[in-house]
Amino acid sequence: MAAMAVPSASAKPRDGKNFPIEFELKKSEFSTAEELTTYSDVTRYNNFYEFGTGKDDPFEQAHRLKTEGWTIQVIGEVHRPQKFDIDQLLRLAPLEERIYRLRCVEAWSMVIPWIGFPLSKLLDAVQPTGNARYVEFISLHDPEQMPGQRTAVLDWPYKEGLRLDEAMNPLTLLTLGLYGEMLPNQNGAPVRVVVPWKYGFKSAKSIVTINLTEHKPATSWNLAGPSEYGFYSNVNPHVSHPRWSQRKERRIGDFLKRDTEMFNGYSKWVADLYRDLDLSKHY
Ligand code: MTE
Repeated sequence: MAAMAVPSASAKPRDGKNFPIEFELKKSEFSTAEELTTYSDVTRYNNFYEFGTGKDDPFEQAHRLKTEGWTIQVIGEVHRPQKFDIDQLLRLAPLEERIYRLRCVEAWSMVIPWIGFPLSKLLDAVQPTGNARYVEFISLHDPEQMPGQRTAVLDWPYKEGLRLDEAMNPLTLLTLGLYGEMLPNQNGAPVRVVVPWKYGFKSAKSIVTINLTEHKPATSWNLAGPSEYGFYSNVNPHVSHPRWSQRKERRIGDFLKRDTEMFNGYSKWVADLYRDLDLSKHY
């Protein structure tokens, strides 16, 4: 089957390119049947502080990002540290469509048809050592291409992290595309993670390094505001952010707010990860 066409896009893609390979797009049991957020909103209402703090800054500015020749290195507590280019990633595992809810800590949400494969496939390929307990994600640092990095709004490069068992969970997606095309720059081209049961900031964009560590890595938002942004940052309507109640959310495109679900509606697959954890302390 040829690479999928962009379904019902209300705006012409500006950055998104067709995939360079043909593939059969696998459907997934993890996908929601909820109505998709429009392509236009998915690609024009973004958080990507490397390109500015306004919601349309990434759409306006991310054309500066050069993704040709991109590599991602996987290092640290692994038996087989490796560098992958995008072509190798596209062939590492069958590509799946995962229609996920994305819930931002700012209390808005979207439904996005991502394309990627479980991060666990990449981690299996590098063989974590017995010491590996966490996975750190490091985004590109290049103030020449990323004007937002010329200001100290965050501690650059953007860094995020997961526990190894969270990273290995089948929901955690190494993501290379959306809406049938390669990731547009503003959505984190050419490769990002998507962790749908956590607030959106855990899903680091434009990743260049994945580092497996024994100790919990420092993360950008946690460094910026430790009392506001915890390491876990699981979507949790019962634990409010100091500035935003997390009980409700506005689905982009909707007028009325809706209730936020525990773990963003993914409890069935992830609640067990936190059996022994007090989630009001480990927010
Ligand atoms: N990754 C990097 N490198 N820089 C960022 O500013 N913003 C995060 C996350 N990943 C961000 C990032 C936040 S706050 C959210 S809500 C999501 O990306 C938004 O993803 P989207 O723009 O594709 O919807």
